[in-house]
Amino acid sequence: MDEISVGRLADIPDGDYRIFAVEQLEVGIFRTGSKVLAYENVCPHAGGPVCQGKIFNKVEEIITSDKKSAGLRFGKARHIVCPWHGYEYDLATGCHPGDPSLRLTPVKVAVRNGQIYVSMPE
Ligand code: FES
Repeated sequence: MDEISVGRLADIPDGDYRIFAVEQLEVGIFRTGSKVLAYENVCPHAGGPVCQGKIFNKVEEIITSDKKSAGLRFGKARHIVCPWHGYEYDLATGCHPGDPSLRLTPVKVAVRNGQIYVSMPE
C-alpha cells in the first residue's frame, strides 16, 4: 500500500475538511482536534461528491414517556449531507443512519509530525 503525503493538519481548521486529489481518487479528509478521518468523495447512493456536503449535528426527535413528540434537538453525532440528493452519513462511522449497509468508503489516513498521509489501496 502506497502512503502519500497530502498536506499539513494545521491547514485544516478544527471541525472542517479538505478534498485532495490522490492518484485517481478524490479523498475527503475531516479533522476533529488532532484526529482525522478520510473517505472517498463518492456517495454510495449515486456517485455524488458527498465529502463536499454540509456538516451538521444529527437531528433527533425528543420522545416523552407517553410516546409523544417534544420537539427536535441536535445530538452529538456529526453528519455530512450529500449535496446531490441529501443522503446523510455519520462522519464517525461513514454509515447512513437509516441503512447502515449504505456507507462511505473509508481511506486509511495518519498524521505524523503534523503531516497528513493517506494510504491508497494497490
Ligand atoms: S448521490 Fe449522494 S445522495 Fe444521491
